[in-house]
Amino acid sequence: MRFRPEPSAVDLAIEEEHAPLALSNSQTEEKVKELLKCLRLTGENVLRVGDIFSQEMENGINDQPSTLLMENTYIPELLNGTETGDFLALDLGGTNFRILLISLQNENVVREEVMQYHISDDLRLGEGEVLFDYLADCLYDFVHKCGVASRRLVMGFTFSFPMHQRSLNCGVLIKWTKSFAATNVEGQDVVKMLGEAIKRKGGIDVDIIAILNDTTGTLLQGCRLDHECGIGLILGTGSNACYMERAERVSHWEAERHGEKEVIIDIEWGAFGDGGLLDFIRTDFDKQVDTNSLFANSFTFEKYISGKYLGELVRLILVNLANHRLIFNGILSKKMQQIDSFTTNYVSHVEKDNVDNTICETDTVLKGFNLDYNEDDIQVVKYVCEVVSIRAALLVSTCLAEVIKRMNRDSVTVAVDGSLYKHHPRFKHWMLKFVEILAPRHKFQLMLAEDGSGKGAGLAAAVAQRLRDSYCHNSK
Ligand code: GLC
Repeated sequence: MRFRPEPSAVDLAIEEEHAPLALSNSQTEEKVKELLKCLRLTGENVLRVGDIFSQEMENGINDQPSTLLMENTYIPELLNGTETGDFLALDLGGTNFRILLISLQNENVVREEVMQYHISDDLRLGEGEVLFDYLADCLYDFVHKCGVASRRLVMGFTFSFPMHQRSLNCGVLIKWTKSFAATNVEGQDVVKMLGEAIKRKGGIDVDIIAILNDTTGTLLQGCRLDHECGIGLILGTGSNACYMERAERVSHWEAERHGEKEVIIDIEWGAFGDGGLLDFIRTDFDKQVDTNSLFANSFTFEKYISGKYLGELVRLILVNLANHRLIFNGILSKKMQQIDSFTTNYVSHVEKDNVDNTICETDTVLKGFNLDYNEDDIQVVKYVCEVVSIRAALLVSTCLAEVIKRMNRDSVTVAVDGSLYKHHPRFKHWMLKFVEILAPRHKFQLMLAEDGSGKGAGLAAAVAQRLRDSYCHNSK
């Protein structure tokens, strides 16, 4: 039987985190509260989301229709400490595109070269082959600058988009997300596309032996720091998680099997709830975020929780409140009316004021918007950021609690990375509190595992190389 706390206990935990709104004008105060009520989750709704998520995980792992991909990554083991050598890593999917060269010696990174490359909007949104040619150009530049161009190198490729993996080095892009929409890539194996681009470029010898998602990279990086690590979680521009699953539970396995006991499963929870499953928590503000996004009607869950959307959600709420003449004297500046002008980073800044009980950060943020505002407006902005942030933290915690319950280990460490987690002053605190309420029988820790998407690709290449060697050895 799955443990399910009393809804009232969850309600209480949520209530404790919401500070009351106190404005000089009580009528405005009531109206603001009323308009934002729809964003405050009840314990019952939180538990319902958890039940649905758990069922969706079960459907996905059994290859049944589900809004969670539950993708087999074909990585059956974490690092075992024997991995040694130089590994290239390519990281595409977040705000930046990076290439790394890491030298491993018994699990320790003894040398690391990193270079960051800019990807213009033209490349993100243009022809796919041109994008991959650019990646190959950067790789060529990087290996030459690092002085390793004459060597044959193995590489891990972090590609943080929903993909269907056929093996450890075959990943078919299902759908672009975040700010990428290059043409003629969806439905293609991106390892093959990159491999071909590298060949077209010539002059370097790179073998892409592993493709992975940033959550997988974060889990691998986390396991280097803590051997109890079993979950990788990203809370950044996008959001997603992966975990170690028992191999016998995994129906989908296209590559050859080698008696694996476990395997990392990439949940892909960004699209959780697509198609109406989570409509009972969807507000008009969420619908507006969706309509304004690059990918309408998809990635429903990500739009409630991730860095790409939280700021925009806050902005739309503020615009709505101003239209009701409840803030800013009813007058909006041009900037405030611009899509995406209120970034999630601003939300984190405003949240600092909520922690410290001050107004200076919010004041600075609002100054940049060219608005006429007073002390009450500042309080409302702080309130909106809190409500939106608590909802996001609750939803993330609900899913995380379900993963922890599913793994059922004595103790599990969750490796976390991403700008939202790193910069939001209260996200971690809320996650610790909410997950404990939702999965009280399980011990867990949250551990920051920075740069998992970068280094993790190198680590995945190292694991892949070790597995390849052992399979070859066993077949001799
Ligand atoms: C998006 C991608 C997913 C990635 C996440 C975090 O949700 O689809 O693959 O893990 O962003 O970057």
